[in-house]
Amino acid sequence: MEQQSIQREEWNSKLGFILAAVGSAVGLGNLWGFAYRSSQGGGAAFVLLYIFVVLVVGIPIFVAEFSLGRSTNTSAVLAPIKAAGKKWSALGFLFLIAPLAIASYYAVIMGWTADIFFQSLIVGLPETTSQAGELFNLIHNGTRDFVGQIFSLVLAFYIVSGGIRRGIEKLNKICMPILFIILLGLVIWAAFLGNAGEGYRNFLFNFDLSQLANPTTIRNAFSQAFFSLSLGIGIMITYASYLNKKNDLTKQAVQIASLDTAVGLMAGLITFPIIFTFGLNETISNSTIATLFITIPSGLGQYGLIGRLVAILFFGLAYIAAITSLISLIEIPVSALIDKFKIKRNRASGITIIFIFLLGIPSALSTDLLGDIDAIANVLLILGGFLVSFLIGWVIPKTLDKELTNSGSSLLTRNYLKFMLKYVTPVLVAWGLIISVYDLLKG
Ligand code: PFF
Repeated sequence: MEQQSIQREEWNSKLGFILAAVGSAVGLGNLWGFAYRSSQGGGAAFVLLYIFVVLVVGIPIFVAEFSLGRSTNTSAVLAPIKAAGKKWSALGFLFLIAPLAIASYYAVIMGWTADIFFQSLIVGLPETTSQAGELFNLIHNGTRDFVGQIFSLVLAFYIVSGGIRRGIEKLNKICMPILFIILLGLVIWAAFLGNAGEGYRNFLFNFDLSQLANPTTIRNAFSQAFFSLSLGIGIMITYASYLNKKNDLTKQAVQIASLDTAVGLMAGLITFPIIFTFGLNETISNSTIATLFITIPSGLGQYGLIGRLVAILFFGLAYIAAITSLISLIEIPVSALIDKFKIKRNRASGITIIFIFLLGIPSALSTDLLGDIDAIANVLLILGGFLVSFLIGWVIPKTLDKELTNSGSSLLTRNYLKFMLKYVTPVLVAWGLIISVYDLLKG
C-alpha cells in the first residue's frame, strides 16, 4: 500500500489541477446541453433552478468527492471500498459503468463535432435547415460516424497514456486559455446580431413560473448540473486522488463550479442570439442533442463568410471543450486498472479505449439509442451523487472533517459543509432522483 501511494502520480501545480477539473466540467454539456435544456424548460426558470442545484447540491458534492479522492489516494472505483468497506463496492461499480457509458456516446458526438468543424473549414456551410438536415444525416449515418469516433478515441488514448502531468495536465493548460478566449470573442460577436436582445430575453428573462413544478424541468436541472459539473461519476474523486494535502478543497470547488456555470451561461449568450436572429426557435424547442448540429450550422450558413468563420471557431471550441472532458471520463477506468492490476498506463488506456469504442457502436448507429443511453446515464449520475453525499455525510463524516482541516478551512466552512452533506444535499438529491426516475419512466 505504502509503496503504491509513494509511486502514485501527482499534479504538477494547483493551477494544473483546477484547469484539469474545469476542463472536465466544461464540455459538450455546456455548449449543447445547457442551450437545449433551457429552451425546453422555459429559459429563465430552468437557469434559476440550475443555479440553485449547483449551489446547494453541486458545491457540497464537489467537496465530498474531493475529500474521498484525496483521503483514499486511489481511483474512484476502489475509493468507496477503501473508505467504507466492501459493502460500498456497488458505488465503485457505478463509477465504472457510468463513465464507460457516457464516454461511449460522447466520443460519437465529438465525431460529429469534428466533422462539422472540417466541413466548415474545407467545404462551407449549408444555407437552409433542410440542407443542414441532409448534411447531418450524411454525418451520422454509416462510416463517417465511425471515422470521427475513432479519431477522437485515438486522440484521447494518446493524451491519457501520457500520464497526469505530461498528458492530462499539459493538455488542459494549453486548451483552457484558448477556449476562454474564443468563447469571449463569440459572445461579443453574438451580441451584435440583429435579434440578440430577443435571444437574451428568451434565455434569461422569460420566466415561466409553472416550469418550476414541471418534473421534466426539475430532471433537466439536476441532470444538467451533474453532467456539466462532472459530478456523481467519480471524475472528481479520481482527479483529487492525485492531489497533495495542501490544496484548499472548498475554495477550488467554488472556483470550478463558478467557471463551469459561467461557460454554460456564455454558451447560451452565443446560441440564443443565433437561434433568434435566424428564426430557428421552432427547430430548437423540441430539440434533441442532434438538432443543434442542424440548427447552428444552418443559422451560421445564412451569414456568409463571417458565419463560416464563426462556425469554425464555434465547433473548434466545442471540440477542445470535449476532448478535455473525454480524457477525464477515460481516466476513471484507466486509473482503476492501474491501481487494481498494477498494469502500465499505456496498456490500461488501450484496453479502455477499445472497450469504449465497442460500447459506442449502438450510439453511432442510432441517435435514438444514443438519446436513451444519455437519459439513463444522467439518472445514474444523480444516483452517484446521492450515494457520495450519503457516504461522506453519514458513514464517514470524520473523513470530511479531516480533509477540510487539512485544507485550512475555517470552522464556519467546516460546519456549514458538514451540515449540508448530512441534512440538506442528500435529501435534495434524493428528491431530484425520485422525480427524475419518475419522469424518465413516464417518458
Ligand atoms: N462535464 C462534461 C460536459 O459537460 O460535457 C463531460 C462529462 C463528464 C459529462 C462527466 C458527464 C459526466 F458524467
